Amino acid sequence: MRYRSQSVAYWYFALAMILFGLQLVFGLLSAAKYLGPDPLLNVLPFDVTKTIHTNLLIVWVLTGFMGATYWMVPDESRTELYSTKLAYIQLILFALMGVTAIIGYLFRYGTGNKLLEQPLPHKLVIVVCMLIFLYNIGMTIRQSGRFTATEGVLLGGLGLAAILYLPALIEYENYTISIFYRWWTIHLWVEGVWEMIQAGFLAYLLIRLSGADREVMEKWLYVIVGLVFIAGILGTAHHYYWVGVPGYWLPIGGLFSALEPVALVGMAIYAYSAIRRSGLAHPNKLALHWAVGSAVFTMFGAGLLGLAHTFPSINKWTHGTMITAMHGHAAFYGAYAMIVLAMISFALPSLTRGRNEEGTSLGYWSFWLQLAGMFGMTLSFATAGIGQVYLERVLGLGYLDAQLRIQVHFVMLVICASIFAVGVAMYIIDFFRYAPSFEVSREPEPEGQRLATASRA
Ligand code: HEM
Ligand code: HEM
Ligand SMILES: [Fe+2]
Repeated sequence: MRYRSQSVAYWYFALAMILFGLQLVFGLLSAAKYLGPDPLLNVLPFDVTKTIHTNLLIVWVLTGFMGATYWMVPDESRTELYSTKLAYIQLILFALMGVTAIIGYLFRYGTGNKLLEQPLPHKLVIVVCMLIFLYNIGMTIRQSGRFTATEGVLLGGLGLAAILYLPALIEYENYTISIFYRWWTIHLWVEGVWEMIQAGFLAYLLIRLSGADREVMEKWLYVIVGLVFIAGILGTAHHYYWVGVPGYWLPIGGLFSALEPVALVGMAIYAYSAIRRSGLAHPNKLALHWAVGSAVFTMFGAGLLGLAHTFPSINKWTHGTMITAMHGHAAFYGAYAMIVLAMISFALPSLTRGRNEEGTSLGYWSFWLQLAGMFGMTLSFATAGIGQVYLERVLGLGYLDAQLRIQVHFVMLVICASIFAVGVAMYIIDFFRYAPSFEVSREPEPEGQRLATASRA
């Protein structure tokens, strides 16, 4: 690492790793409940395990985003962080918020609003953490005066993500209104501003790893972000089909959300052509696997599998079934889990002692096992979903009758999820097996680092 304060990223990553592991425990618990009688029904019912599973996902991914930003901004702005103390206070607050929220869920303390179950005090702590974070990063950039387009896209995404969390602070009596605004946070996060965050990290990694020309990369970055917004904002309406709002949302949702994959295909082409044209300037090929993997898996999980059920004529059959879970897993994993794992893999050799810069063999095993496992999980959810839609919605069988007939797919799910979990366990072991060591080195900047578009305030 070039700047001592980048070391705060290590502790963010370490917390993200622990929460990622815990997320999978609750995922496996949720999946196991589909297999038969549930011995934990009265202690840990499905709604509790699923809430904990998805909330841990959001908390660890956000922790990863913050750590990766604390790593990347000093590099881009060529300066120490404004305050490491603030960064640690923020981390401790965020961790306490996460842990107490999970304990609260065990005792049914939550709003019941899917993915936004955090009680109001926890939501307020999240807002405080985001404010500390944005202030710290803002001051860092201000004190350096150097601001690149790549970090501009990243920070734009993070700032807008904080603003879009605000509608989630309000509770509505009316269910339709509540659902209507829920998507302002959830949809506009994952299909809007979080994609800016992903694209910012991706551009940073590609510039560093492939030595691609910064000016070219940043120009295309704007194009991708533009495409995300053109389709993504009105694409929100693909969640408004059956929630009690006027019918004109149907064509709007169908049309605009069908355009969303264009940006995601663009992102995959972007990553592929960077390495095709510029080669590999950096030895860390493991990080490159994760970075390009993230772009490609997003195209598959979000782009293709999102498109698969986004038209009203299809969604009326598939809404809220295992088809949703199929897409939710592949999309979230490809776009946000993989990009965080890419940033961690890139930073880790400089944050630990004795690690091979090219990545360890355990690291590559982890990559392929996770990919194979997640692909298998996606197929298991998909086959379960197709069966469910046909039996339950076409033939009209009751929910539980249909579930009984598709149980074999959940056996498949648990097998594939176990492969995936082994891959994740390997990543976590690989993370912790080298002791942290924060030595500052002034390695020369690769060719692609020429700050052609950087501006000086
Ligand atoms: C990285 C990007 C994406 C992520 C992380 C993501 C994730 C998710 C998740 C978690 C859900 C379930 C939400 C819930 O029911 O609470 C969902 C629903 C949905 N997504 Fe995505 N998604 C992404 C992109 C897309 C794209 C590009 C499309 C369309 C082309 C799409 C189409 C849909 C549709 C139609 C639903 C509603 C399913 C239903 O009716 O039950 N998604 N998505
Ligand atoms: C061991 C691995 C995992 C298992 C066994 C697992 C299992 C499950 C199960 C059974 C559900 C509930 C589905 C339902 O509503 O019936 C679920 C929900 C969910 N999981 Fe996982 N999961 C795993 C890993 C992951 C990972 C790595 C991610 C993202 C990176 C993820 C994201 C989600 C999301 C977004 C939902 C909510 C989907 C929705 O409401 O439609 N899961 N998971
Ligand atoms: Fe959406």
